[in-house]
Amino acid sequence: MRAIVQDQYGQTDVLRLRPDAPTPQIGEDDVLVRVHVTGINAADWHLMTGEPYPVRLVMGLRRPRNPVLGSDFSGVVEAAGTAVTGLSVGDEVMGEVERGTLADLVAVASKHVVRKPKNLTHEQAAAIPMGALTALQAVRDTGKLQPGQSVLVNGASSGVGIYAVQIAVAMGAEVTAICSGRNADMVRSLGASSVVDYTTEDVVATSERYDLIIDIISNRSIADFRKVLTERGRYVLVGAASSGKWFGMGRQLQVVLTSPFVRQTLKPMLANRKQEDLATIVDMVEAGQVTPVIDTVYPFEQAADAIAHVQKGHARGKVVVAI
Ligand SMILES: NC(=O)c1ccc[n+]([C@@H]2O[C@H](COP(=O)([O-])OP(=O)(O)OC[C@H]3O[C@@H](n4cnc5c(N)ncnc54)[C@H](OP(=O)(O)O)[C@@H]3O)[C@@H](O)[C@H]2O)c1
Repeated sequence: MRAIVQDQYGQTDVLRLRPDAPTPQIGEDDVLVRVHVTGINAADWHLMTGEPYPVRLVMGLRRPRNPVLGSDFSGVVEAAGTAVTGLSVGDEVMGEVERGTLADLVAVASKHVVRKPKNLTHEQAAAIPMGALTALQAVRDTGKLQPGQSVLVNGASSGVGIYAVQIAVAMGAEVTAICSGRNADMVRSLGASSVVDYTTEDVVATSERYDLIIDIISNRSIADFRKVLTERGRYVLVGAASSGKWFGMGRQLQVVLTSPFVRQTLKPMLANRKQEDLATIVDMVEAGQVTPVIDTVYPFEQAADAIAHVQKGHARGKVVVAI
């Protein structure tokens, strides 16, 4: 099969299209999926560069153990293990794996697969898993959002932010989105009632206070964000710019160490690949509450360009690769 592989950590020039990569083997609980489209996430370029270095403790010290990049997928079941129930050859499915979806075929534990919503194309479905799962768990579980609350989403046009806005609105919140002016209409179309243009306005200088802040960009200090949080409000740290090679968790640590000493609740979150949560998102998609926003669909041969696009940090919603 064809696959985008890397034999060492580095920038996009370490990626190459291998035409004769081995077909993945499936266990009794796995399905083999013919990948139609792969969604690209910030995680992909961290896994490509192996930075911050603790990534390598999990993925392989000198080079990635699985050379095939890519996590999110939408495709069709090609084969199913003997213990798999509820999924058959030919089913259209989507999901997320640790690595391996920038390839014709990927082996996936059936517990990480859900059926693709019928009202979505493979391009749209592949744009969902990691971004929407992260947003759901940030807003509902760590953020404990209640109907009627006010939410500030910092980075509303990002791959996680587009889902955070829509999920918060679906849960009955009033959403203020921080994004650049060029994305203001897009985030309003997702349900945000107000927009703060980070290129011209300072959210900390306003008199607004929010019950919940979903921070996907972390470009302001924790102290700044606390100023626009209600007295008992919650701050959820989703993304922290980790340009450091050695340790990218400084902000997470700061949040954990500060929270016990203030009345507000400050928490970092780490998304968890849960099938039931992905199924919840599929329900929301089918109910018309959540819809993906796709910036660009790249052809397979240009997968490295797709990663570079996301790495620059200005994708509008999601970038996907058609296999
Ligand atoms: N905690 C977890 O489990 C988890 C899971 C997934 C992702 N993450 C993290 O979440 C972060 C975001 O990931 P992503 O895939 O959503 O990112 P992304 O899609 O690559 O983010 C790009 C977007 O961010 C916007 N942006 C850039 N600077 C901004 C600023 N100062 N203020 C507001 N918006 C700004 C850009 O808009 P403009 O072009 O208009 O600037 C662009 O739309 C990453 O750090 C990632 O590692 C964490």
